[in-house]
Amino acid sequence: MLAIALVAQKGGTGKTTLALTLAVGAEQAGRTAVVLDIDPQATACKWGDRREASTPVVLDAQPARLGRALETAAAQGVDLVVIDTPARLETAALEAARLSSLVVIPCRPLIFDIETVPTSQQVVTLAGGPPVVAVLNATPPRGRRAEQTRTALEDFGIVVCPHTLGQRAAVGDAVAMGLVAAEFAPASVAAAEARDVAHWILTEATCRNSRT
Ligand SMILES: Nc1ncnc2c1ncn2[C@@H]1O[C@H](COP(=O)(O)OP(=O)(O)O)[C@@H](O)[C@H]1O
Ligand SMILES: [Mg+2]
Repeated sequence: MLAIALVAQKGGTGKTTLALTLAVGAEQAGRTAVVLDIDPQATACKWGDRREASTPVVLDAQPARLGRALETAAAQGVDLVVIDTPARLETAALEAARLSSLVVIPCRPLIFDIETVPTSQQVVTLAGGPPVVAVLNATPPRGRRAEQTRTALEDFGIVVCPHTLGQRAAVGDAVAMGLVAAEFAPASVAAAEARDVAHWILTEATCRNSRT
């Protein structure tokens, strides 16, 4: 079983959206996926409440119970667990990172996001250093901000996903209905970007997991 944690010490970077995108993407690729929501705001759980489809299952979990929840998922033959963590609660992010095979840090091309990435990296290091990758999220359609952000993140020594998620209206519209962009507007650019990012992350997690 793979466990992927979405971590960022800044709110609004796209953790929850990417967690749901990954879980649905894995299911569309024929794997079973569960989302464990350890954010007290329970945004992923509320998305699950709005969702008509019965999968991926979204469960709320407390950081102290995360290990147990992962054991249960593994015993039930789940292929992928995606852990959605809160911003600013280092202990929760630490526990999620400790128990994961890969940590994903979403980052918008904004200085307020970029400058918190080293803190998120430190949390991962403290957790025992599972592999960590960053994903550029909500990038503008034009201009050099995305590439400048990529360079800044690479300067922090972090692997950055070669695919980028643009700022797309379909993303917000989809989650409002308990969907992700790939379901809400399958032919959209947002859906294509999500598929590329999800495929890259799942491949990365699988390769790195088999190397450990
Ligand atoms: N690529 C994107 N395009 C448009 N809106 C986005 C995108 N990614 C996230 N959002 C929106 O930004 C807000 C914050 O995203 P969210 O996933 O809740 O961040 P976090 O979990 O890190 O706080 C939400 O309203 C979400 O719909
Ligand atoms: Mg969130």
